[in-house]
Amino acid sequence: MARILVTGGTGYIGSHTTVELMQAGYDVTIVDNLMNSNIDVLDGIAAIVGRRPDYENIDCLDYVALDKMFEKYADIVGIIHFAASKAVGESVEKPLLYYRNNLNSLINLLELMPVHKVKHIVFSSSCTVYGQPDADHLPVDETAPIKPALSPYGNTKQICEEIIHDAIHAKSPITAIILRYFNPIGAHPSALIGELPNGIPNNLLPYVTQTAMGIRKELSIFGNDYNTPDGTCVRDYIDVVDLAKAHVVALKRMIDGKQDDKIEIFNLGTGRGLSVLEIVETFKRVNNVDVPYKIVGRREGDIEQVWAKPDKANKVLGWKAERTIEETLRSSWQWQQHLNNMQKPD
Ligand code: NAD
Ligand code: UD1
Repeated sequence: MARILVTGGTGYIGSHTTVELMQAGYDVTIVDNLMNSNIDVLDGIAAIVGRRPDYENIDCLDYVALDKMFEKYADIVGIIHFAASKAVGESVEKPLLYYRNNLNSLINLLELMPVHKVKHIVFSSSCTVYGQPDADHLPVDETAPIKPALSPYGNTKQICEEIIHDAIHAKSPITAIILRYFNPIGAHPSALIGELPNGIPNNLLPYVTQTAMGIRKELSIFGNDYNTPDGTCVRDYIDVVDLAKAHVVALKRMIDGKQDDKIEIFNLGTGRGLSVLEIVETFKRVNNVDVPYKIVGRREGDIEQVWAKPDKANKVLGWKAERTIEETLRSSWQWQQHLNNMQKPD
């Protein structure tokens, strides 16, 4: 079976995708420098799959080390490139770190692919490229205009997409699929892998689970005066396992030579927008736990509402988000409980 390079494979989405790839029969080499993940994730993956992925502690900024890695694993046929810095707030404070890490990692891979005859790459992009879509573009499909980025992080995703386009138009012998994720949440149903937030979480779900666990006193809901049904912001929350499966399908499409174009773009979401309050109330109900919260002012830079029109992915990839929000929110809570048990002293 073919071997896939998963950069950022010990991270949140990368670890779930590694599981799905291995369960689909692929061999996987993970490259990760652990700047935002933990080596123990490999044990979780092995416990789920029954075998270990190969792992190399390499920084994707290190061209020479990557070059040697491609020599070592000469059977790599495709890459799923997750490795990136992803904290929006931090990117405003340290923009150069974000431009260096996110752009140069991709450039190194794109340069090395033809050298090592690796033809296919899946790139992790984000719905952040759409900004606040115009009313006539909600839900958002792939033809919606790209809006000026609201942060250096968002800008790196836009520039990376352009870099891939330019490389392919310059006749690089590669094909690419760009996946624009909406809001990934949840954890593997085994509760053996999940998201490992660093410090105080910025994203909604880790904050909700930590509040339910009593690690945080209360959740602050950022604004209830938006032009939405209950006044809180609306997002398209996509289960991480569903998201992971889309990567396997996208890669196979390229390997099987089924692409209509050398570069294709897909939105990955459920097609359903949920408000912050709906998420909190559903989380409380399905897990039978309390989540104390207060309404505070709006968070700067927040988008009022955005959700996906995933029809292209549904039709062309034959992929559809399947897990219900109840299943997903249960898995988030189970993962938080697992984390809590792991961190307790013996
Ligand atoms: P994550 O931080 O959990 O995983 C990223 C992994 O990449 C980490 O394990 C980190 O150690 C590694 N990494 C970072 N820079 C590296 C480098 N230079 N060399 C080697 N390893 C490096 O993040 P995630 O949530 O799994 O996100 C994966 C990808 O999806 C990222 O590109 C992110 O921007 C994108 N994305 C994420 C979300 C989200 O909400 N999680 C939404 C849209 C897009
Ligand atoms: C964030 C990123 C975006 C990234 C996306 C997917 C920002 C500005 N944008 O978007 O680039 O692509 O994640 O991971 O960070 N909320 C609260 N209280 C909290 C935390 C969040 O009310 O403590 C609300 C937010 O106002 C928002 C919703 O929950 O309405 C989701 O927030 P979050 O998880 O941070 O994701 P996004 O803001 O959609």
